[in-house]
Amino acid sequence: MASLTIRKLDEGVKTYLRLRSAMNRRSVEEEVRVILRELIEGREEPLTPFEPSAPTPSPQRTSALAEASVTLIIGGGIAAYKSLDLIRRLKERRIEVRCVLTKAAQQFVTPLAVSALSHERVYTDLFDPQSEFDAGHIRLARDCDLIIVAPATADLMAKMANGHADDLASAILLAANRKILLAPAMNPLMWGNAATRRNVAQLTRDGVTFIGPNSGEMAEAGEAGTGRMSEAIEIAAAAERLLRPPVPRPLVGKRVLITAGPTHEPIDPVRYIANRSSGKQGFAIAAAAQAAGAEVILVSGPVDLDDPAGVTVRHVESARHMLEQVEAALPVDIAIFAAAVADWRVANAGEQKLKKTSAGMPPLQLVENPDILTTISKMKDKRPPLVIGFAAETEHLIDNAKAKLKRKGCDWIVANDVSPATGVMGGDRNTVHLLSKNSGKDGDIAVDSWPVMTKEQVATELIAHVARSLADKPLEPAT
Ligand code: C5P
Repeated sequence: MASLTIRKLDEGVKTYLRLRSAMNRRSVEEEVRVILRELIEGREEPLTPFEPSAPTPSPQRTSALAEASVTLIIGGGIAAYKSLDLIRRLKERRIEVRCVLTKAAQQFVTPLAVSALSHERVYTDLFDPQSEFDAGHIRLARDCDLIIVAPATADLMAKMANGHADDLASAILLAANRKILLAPAMNPLMWGNAATRRNVAQLTRDGVTFIGPNSGEMAEAGEAGTGRMSEAIEIAAAAERLLRPPVPRPLVGKRVLITAGPTHEPIDPVRYIANRSSGKQGFAIAAAAQAAGAEVILVSGPVDLDDPAGVTVRHVESARHMLEQVEAALPVDIAIFAAAVADWRVANAGEQKLKKTSAGMPPLQLVENPDILTTISKMKDKRPPLVIGFAAETEHLIDNAKAKLKRKGCDWIVANDVSPATGVMGGDRNTVHLLSKNSGKDGDIAVDSWPVMTKEQVATELIAHVARSLADKPLEPAT
């Protein structure tokens, strides 16, 4: 039995799995099992002597870069020329294409042209000894992630709807256990004919997806109506939607503010007080919130990280500068304070570089910085409906975090042990406990301890918690 290493999946797939599993309160592994079960149970497996009843393994990729593969069946119609462009459009989306030409298709495009564009051999015959010795039509039906039929002629659709298998294209379609996308192309009278209507209805019931046909002028002189095959770019986009379903976006319409990184508190123009925060956790939270559909404002102290895509980033140096930018970002629906803000700054920071003098060390007088989390949590007017703080502790983690939750007035605290032995500060992994006031009874604080995770996983899990809490108890909109 094959085993699947989640870690080795594409980032997009991992994000999708993490969000989906967190939303459904399942482990990622369990979620993968559920997805596989749904896939298998939601599909009638045709019983053939060639195939065990277990699901087929993923297709073998011939190109290291290709992320998905498609079997493209080109039917016989004048629109077949557009399928040449479709091959190109699919390949630019890193989708591998293997093509099958019906006999009629070869009247419109040549196997040579198709093969040159797809960089693969082209399949034309059901009884081709070269490919059929190992049941080639079964492989073409299953060694792919999606089957596209473009153009899907009235005849091919009729065969499909009735389960015929008298040529390679129809045999593949009958043996398929992958999603099928049809791009019909035919004369408007054929498209409107009762027989075609019946076939379309049957194929829709069978779970086949249609793209088009579009309306417009037909190849036949003077004829117009519905029956033009969709453009290659439309078909490629439809294929992409089926191959890479969108990540759930539970935070669409929400504005999220996040602070991250350390602050630098100047001593003089060249020296400063800082801490070891890398900003990785806050940046990961910003990316996860953005992936969940939120509008994200990230206020970051000095870090060595790239700005996350699609996020508005305000770069700041000191705690006071950070507070200014946080206040400027209000109102928001959710505020997450992951920054390691310096508690103190130098009161008498020099305008000029401090010099060594015979008088000895210059006295550094420290004054307390504003507590940004407390300031925002205790706001009267603009307090965000959900305020989340972090508690990085080196001892008595839970007790200190509980006290901090009460003292600072936020709703949740993410507590993590940052003692040097954990390697959390600057590292890639984190072990956290989520403390929340809301879910505990009688003012109790609920403590939810998570296993060791990467900072990206912690971020995804936290954002999924936020999304679930919104679903359970919708926030008052930010004003
Ligand atoms: O008191 P302590 O620094 O441990 O509190 C940590 C939490 O408070 C974090 O969420 C941090 O971002 C926030 N904080 C703040 N402003 C400060 C100090 C801490 O927002 N001046």
